[in-house]
Amino acid sequence: MDYKVLMEEAEKVSTKAYAPYSNFSVGACILTSSGKTYTGCNFENSSFGLTICAERNAAGSAIADGERNFKAIAIYSPKRDLCYPCGACLQVLHEFGEDMDVILKSEQELKTYKLKELLPGGFRL
Ligand code: THU
Repeated sequence: MDYKVLMEEAEKVSTKAYAPYSNFSVGACILTSSGKTYTGCNFENSSFGLTICAERNAAGSAIADGERNFKAIAIYSPKRDLCYPCGACLQVLHEFGEDMDVILKSEQELKTYKLKELLPGGFRL
């Protein structure tokens, strides 16, 4: 699948974010090795620590559908060029695709990283 399309899905779902406290919306779209896609947005809570990031929300949807092999994820925020995933999300994604691509948007360009570049030495049991 074209990563431009993946990013368009991430942009679309970012409009659904529930982010009244930070006002920082994020959308993510995961592509699995079987070619399916799963979107997620961040949703915050008045007990701030309970906030769920867009990436982990998308990962949960994929896992709930039986998908455990992630090929790529596109991440988008209207508030930030190159919206890098936080450390917690990198570790969660690492569990399901050490070799996955992480696609970020800068101005009108897409930048693709390997998850390993962003999280070298991710933890494994
Ligand atoms: N956020 C994400 O959705 N993904 C990240 O990787 C970093 C942060 C969200 C969480 C919170 O709702 C808002 O962005 C500000 O931290």
